Amino acid sequence: MNHKLINRVKKAFSKEFHSNSLMIFSPGRINIIGEHTDYNDGYVFPAAVDKGIVAAFEKSSVTSSKVIALDLDEFYEFEIDSFVPQREQLWANYILGVIDELSKREFQIKNFNLVFAGDLPNGAGMSSSAALENSVVFGLNKLFELGLSKEEMIFISQKAEHNYVGVHCGIMDQYASIFGLKDQALHLDCRSIKATPFKIDLEDYQFLLINTNVKHILSESAYNNRREVCEYISSLLGVKALRDVSELDLITIKDKVSDEDFQKALFVIQENKRTIEATKAMSDGKLKRLGELIYASHHGLQHQYQVSCKELDFLVDATRDKEYLLGARMMGGGFGGCTINIIKTSEVDSFNQYIKEAYFNMFNVQCSIYDVTLSDGTHQL
Ligand code: GLA
Repeated sequence: MNHKLINRVKKAFSKEFHSNSLMIFSPGRINIIGEHTDYNDGYVFPAAVDKGIVAAFEKSSVTSSKVIALDLDEFYEFEIDSFVPQREQLWANYILGVIDELSKREFQIKNFNLVFAGDLPNGAGMSSSAALENSVVFGLNKLFELGLSKEEMIFISQKAEHNYVGVHCGIMDQYASIFGLKDQALHLDCRSIKATPFKIDLEDYQFLLINTNVKHILSESAYNNRREVCEYISSLLGVKALRDVSELDLITIKDKVSDEDFQKALFVIQENKRTIEATKAMSDGKLKRLGELIYASHHGLQHQYQVSCKELDFLVDATRDKEYLLGARMMGGGFGGCTINIIKTSEVDSFNQYIKEAYFNMFNVQCSIYDVTLSDGTHQL
């Protein structure tokens, strides 16, 4: 837990409002494997981390609400029953979107004050958006005693992102952020929304994230486009989602779709199988196999699904000849953000030095490296 961050939010809150606030922590996530499978009703294997959003709330004593984004040094004021999506202060949409979803469901929310800050790198593919949405729905649920279940909360967060932010995301990020468990990853079935927790023991290996520190434009429209392709192919096959088909089923419509779209659907079917196999490898202690599946996932994301970029590919390729690295792949939606790596703990320092230099020499941009600790989901502090 980042106590500095908590104190910073507390202090800012009491400076602006009162000292008695409701404090919430909501984490970001990693995803071991199972990328772009969630909106295909498939499987994913994420875990909440110890980095996220700290948010402080109180009921407002005036007829307006004020939200302060501490890291940006910006604020936004509005009235609870009259606001519209923001074009300038885009961050406010994650909050307004949640309120909008609550009022669509006829929950009675009054004006409130909120201060938030975080330690998740923006655009790193670690779900700072879901962390923020969840902190808001979780905080408002407590503040106004709405009686929402965690499952209801994640769907509200997801809809906020669809309708106010415009990204037609799946449910993985919101789920992992709220339901995360210390030292465990969640094998989530995105159709039934039931997860099996897996204790993560990487023996003398560990996860390491490397942030490209780039985010290519159009990543959101490309994301929505991938989802449309999947939905189009499902409709051609007469199924609800790609989760319902095998590679053989897909071949029956090969001549009705472009080769590019065929490869995208094939990726989803294969990634889903890899995810199931990865959980088995994890519980059998077959770390080498887990690493192979992770490399295969990247290969598919790069060549079939086409959501990688040269910076991510470089970081993955740079690990291939290192026998102390079991697997590496891009993580999250793609087009930038982090790679996730399984690396021998004793080699982390020297690898860090090597990769920082190699990446800088190649792109003239610094990459950032993070250790992750698997942690509990959204909770009151
Ligand atoms: C983003 C979305 C998720 C998921 C991943 C890709 O993080 O928010 O729902 O689709 O991309 O796996």
